[in-house]
Amino acid sequence: MFMFKAKMEEIAKKKDTKIVLALDFPFISLNSQKSLFHKAKNVIDEVYPHICAVKINHHLVLPLGTFQGVKKLIEIIHEKNLPVIMDCKANDIGATNKVIAEYYYSAGFDAIIANPFVGWDEGLKPIFDMAKKMHRGVILLVYMSHKGAQEGYGQFIYDKGKEEKIAQYVSFARKALKWGADGVVVGATVPEKIKEIHNILGDKIPIYSPGIGIQGGRGISALNAGASYLIVGRSITLAENPNETVKKLIEKLKMS
Ligand code: XMP
Repeated sequence: MFMFKAKMEEIAKKKDTKIVLALDFPFISLNSQKSLFHKAKNVIDEVYPHICAVKINHHLVLPLGTFQGVKKLIEIIHEKNLPVIMDCKANDIGATNKVIAEYYYSAGFDAIIANPFVGWDEGLKPIFDMAKKMHRGVILLVYMSHKGAQEGYGQFIYDKGKEEKIAQYVSFARKALKWGADGVVVGATVPEKIKEIHNILGDKIPIYSPGIGIQGGRGISALNAGASYLIVGRSITLAENPNETVKKLIEKLKMS
């Protein structure tokens, strides 16, 4: 464990960038898979010098297939010495979670995102066990970037052990420490929560922050609040010039 975390730190430092590219594209007709693959490859070819990792979601796994198109993309990304994260938000019973992790890690993913709502025993433990066995990472959702996140991640719960009422995301941040997660996801749309969660995690677990640009979050606010990495998707992938866009974003972050 923690190999993934160390790899991320090393690459981000060496390349002086905290941008994780979310390689997402809108739905396109199913007989245009070749063009989707090439679109994805072109964006990687353009922006790889300015990013520290790539995050892949169902936008590519569903149309291209994990062991067909996506595995090839992972190989291309690995050739550029970048780790690849699968944003599958694993959220099932342990036996199923184990299979999900095994397939994604076997396809070459360096880390997967999982949802702590399912708990440890017969929930996420098999994912952490598989990650340990295959020397990969697990990143936990702690507070999502969309508005409705407050209904679940923001609800108040009674912590039996400590006999106190705490926010769900506080409980998840504590679990991330206890379970040895390699990272947590906290939306850039809630910088005050990033700060609170960073105070719990310290420098032990990095915060990955999505929701910049189109979802309304500001990269600089997320970083100032304690995020280590910014996950950015459509602002880059749908830009006319992804390379210029990512360079400008980095410059803006450095100047702020
Ligand atoms: P955009 O285009 O909005 O893409 O920059 C963001 C990417 O990140 C995903 N996303 C999340 N993933 N927790 C996650 O694990 C979150 O809170 C979250 N918010 C956004 C989104 O699906 C897209 O791939």
